[in-house]
Amino acid sequence: MLLGAGELGKEVIIAFQRLGVEVIAVDRYDNAPGHQVAHHAFTIDMSDAEQLLALIDAQQPDYVVPEIEAIATDALAEVEKRGRTVVIPTARATQLTMNREGIRRLAAEELGLPTSPYAFAESLTEVQNALSTIGFPAVIKPVMSSSGKGQSVVRGAEEVEAAWEYALKGGRVDLGRVIVEGFVDFDYEITLLTIRSIQGTDFCEPIGHLQRSGDYVESWQPQPMSDVALAGAKDIAERITAALGGRGLFGVELFVKGDDVYFSEVSPRPHDTGLVTLRTQRFSEFELHARAILGLPVDTSLISPGASAVIYGGVDAEGIAFDGVGDALAVPETDLRLFGKPESFVRRRMGVAVSTAGDVDTARARATEAAGKVRPVL
Ligand SMILES: Nc1ncnc2c1ncn2[C@@H]1O[C@H](COP(=O)(O)OP(=O)(O)O)[C@@H](O)[C@H]1O
Ligand SMILES: [Mg+2]
Repeated sequence: MLLGAGELGKEVIIAFQRLGVEVIAVDRYDNAPGHQVAHHAFTIDMSDAEQLLALIDAQQPDYVVPEIEAIATDALAEVEKRGRTVVIPTARATQLTMNREGIRRLAAEELGLPTSPYAFAESLTEVQNALSTIGFPAVIKPVMSSSGKGQSVVRGAEEVEAAWEYALKGGRVDLGRVIVEGFVDFDYEITLLTIRSIQGTDFCEPIGHLQRSGDYVESWQPQPMSDVALAGAKDIAERITAALGGRGLFGVELFVKGDDVYFSEVSPRPHDTGLVTLRTQRFSEFELHARAILGLPVDTSLISPGASAVIYGGVDAEGIAFDGVGDALAVPETDLRLFGKPESFVRRRMGVAVSTAGDVDTARARATEAAGKVRPVL
């Protein structure tokens, strides 16, 4: 049972089905991308523990595979305790990673991993106190949020109040609690896809990416790194995923400056920047996730450098179509995924172009060109 059936969940569903697995897709709205390809589709409020438990009890899945953060994780803990169903990777991992405080304290305070300096705050005064030690620039984020929601960079004292107000509005749950992080002036940031399977821990080649307004707009693989930085990245990823436990694929987000690597956050599930692996790896991150979960061998080989570029809706409308698909696919070594979301928003991710090439720069140029040729139309 997939909890979350967006574009990432849809690919995981297809990966499971190719291995003969019966899949139940769950999302908060009807006709989500994963609903369209699963054996069974349900629409519930997954942040409601009662609804979630009732569905799991009725369906009795062997595995529950969370694909989003906003889930009643207490219900997952209860399901895990009963022992009938395995929660991927573990209920505790879903609890720790849905709240920035849980994962940050585990990484920095228990494991001693390098991170940005940080503090938690529950009022404007506490934010100001935190900033007096952390300094500017800093980043303020609600402890429960994703896709950059409620998150802003503050460069001076005059920007703090607006950032605090913005964070209060952008949190998933009205906790009124934020993390204040020192701004890391990184050279580049990566996602290190890390797989915990029957083989132990394996890594994919590092994925570089570009974030804009809280969303990734481009990713590429492999991101060139010094041997020291890559070893540091793998060490951090190995330790944080071991602490979370269970089996499956994790997206470990890291900032790199010279040879120094900082832990940022981790998703206990496929990562959006990893869509590039649909064409760069022998097995995509989605296939690796499915294999790891099922206790099957994994192979993280890269087959070609490549890149992905996001296609946005550009309009607020239901049932949109796309022009320019043929032109996009005429770009060499290029493929598209159009997710089939029933409703488009200006800034909603509706598809992605994925290209390969002999080098990452050419692949990036191809993916960006192809994404630009796809035009959502009414
Ligand atoms: N402390 C920081 N220093 C520099 N950049 C940051 C920092 N925190 C976040 N960012 C930037 O913002 C992006 C989104 O932040 P992140 O914590 O990953 O939020 P989300 O959970 O919404 O993905 C990061 O990928 C990075 O580009
Ligand atoms: Mg992130």
